[in-house]
Amino acid sequence: NAVTPSTPSKAENGAPAEITLDEFEDLSVLSKNDDSTHFTIFGYARSKMTDAELRHMVSKTLTCRIDKRENCSEKMEEFLKRCFYHSGQYDSEEHFMDLDKKLKQHEGSRVSNRLFYLSIPPNIFLDVVKCASKSASSVNGWTRVIVEKPFGRDSESSAALTRGLKQYLVEDQIFRIDHYLGKELVENLSVLRFSNLVFEPLWSRQYIRNVQLIFSEDFGTEGRGGYFDGYGIIRDIMQNHLLQILALFAMETPISLEAEDIRNEKVKVLRSMKPLQLEDVVIGQYKSHTKGGMTYPGYTDDKTVPKDSVTPTFAAAALFINNARWDGVPFLMKAGKALHTKRAEIRVQFRHVPGNLYKGSFGTDLDRATNELVIRVQPDEAIYLKINNKIPGLGMRLDRSNLNLHYAARYSKEIPDAYERLLLDAIEGERRLFIRSDELDAAWSLFTPLLKELEEKRIAPELYPYGSRGPVGAHYLAAKYNVRWGDLS
Ligand code: BG6
Repeated sequence: NAVTPSTPSKAENGAPAEITLDEFEDLSVLSKNDDSTHFTIFGYARSKMTDAELRHMVSKTLTCRIDKRENCSEKMEEFLKRCFYHSGQYDSEEHFMDLDKKLKQHEGSRVSNRLFYLSIPPNIFLDVVKCASKSASSVNGWTRVIVEKPFGRDSESSAALTRGLKQYLVEDQIFRIDHYLGKELVENLSVLRFSNLVFEPLWSRQYIRNVQLIFSEDFGTEGRGGYFDGYGIIRDIMQNHLLQILALFAMETPISLEAEDIRNEKVKVLRSMKPLQLEDVVIGQYKSHTKGGMTYPGYTDDKTVPKDSVTPTFAAAALFINNARWDGVPFLMKAGKALHTKRAEIRVQFRHVPGNLYKGSFGTDLDRATNELVIRVQPDEAIYLKINNKIPGLGMRLDRSNLNLHYAARYSKEIPDAYERLLLDAIEGERRLFIRSDELDAAWSLFTPLLKELEEKRIAPELYPYGSRGPVGAHYLAAKYNVRWGDLS
């Protein structure tokens, strides 16, 4: 898709647009700027479609939820009028030249910026980037490209993609998107840690026993089996979404909140980690399950998936960061499809209080006496801290209670979708939440040897029933490091 906002970015023109916190949550900030009345969106693909058909398609999912006081239907109409469609081949410079002509008709003699958002299979990335940069880049403003994952399948293919992209674009023009970085509670991680004295000093091996990054979905690969089978859950979720959260969570204090300072710290964390070992990984694949009269299909029941596929739809892994702050602290990841619930969360389990006067009150299960901080990324965003508390009354009985920050109860504003934040950031030239090429390299180095070994040896995943809590192997992996998964206790 080619998006042509004609407002110069703050990075390039040196004049930062003033955006208040309230405005930031309101995408209409684009139209508050005089020039954004010239904002247009072009869909580009091989299928034939008219502008009207594209608008009809867009209108089916278009909402106007940010500011309900305004006249929604008028705003939607205004938006739809700016949507156009151009049909062309992905590798035809000529077709991109036709697109360029159309874009110019809209842009007139104004300074125009162009943002290409590539949500396309990786095997055509380079063709599109070549054609777009040669035949449809902006002549008097900036040209940027947002690239959706997967960025390759392993270190080699990712490096080849990066080399290829750099023939046509400089690093600053490339915005590698990981939409988990745009999620509200992931954005909030640094605020929570760096602006609260009750957390910041505790953020190390001295007080933290383990960190858990958990992703689960209560549906299978429905309709996406063809894509998924070539990638698997480790590439789909762990190597990017969960690893990015880990890097943000564990980084040292950056010099500032500038994009390069944050990305410098994140890449140091990734480089301090050892590549994953097979013995620190459990893989699973969901199988068909009948419950309440309903039969849920197994992964290999999908017609686009080979019957003998060993692609994991579940994985659990233990990772370690070899630096002074995190030495010996297990970072456990767990990601799976077709599990019993849909949830993404970060769990931080703290150490025992030394010489705890009340430890007798917890019987033999001393783990119950430790604090746990839970950051629920989705759904129903929340941050809660499990603490020990005296049950009111004359006796001395303790209870585990939650200090709870429940977003829906605390904030009346709707939380923007991750993509809203990231697309706006790309238009603004804000790179903080996008992945730099060295981060990508480091991330692939951690997972590539393991992925190769799994694939070369065709290691069979442990089967788990659709809708269950996943393979029991995940418990043994955690137990090996004296950890109990927080979401199961
Ligand atoms: C995508 C994965 O990156 O993230 C999908 O490819 C997954 O397999 C999705 O379903 C989850 O995103 P969200 O925002 O719905 O949690």
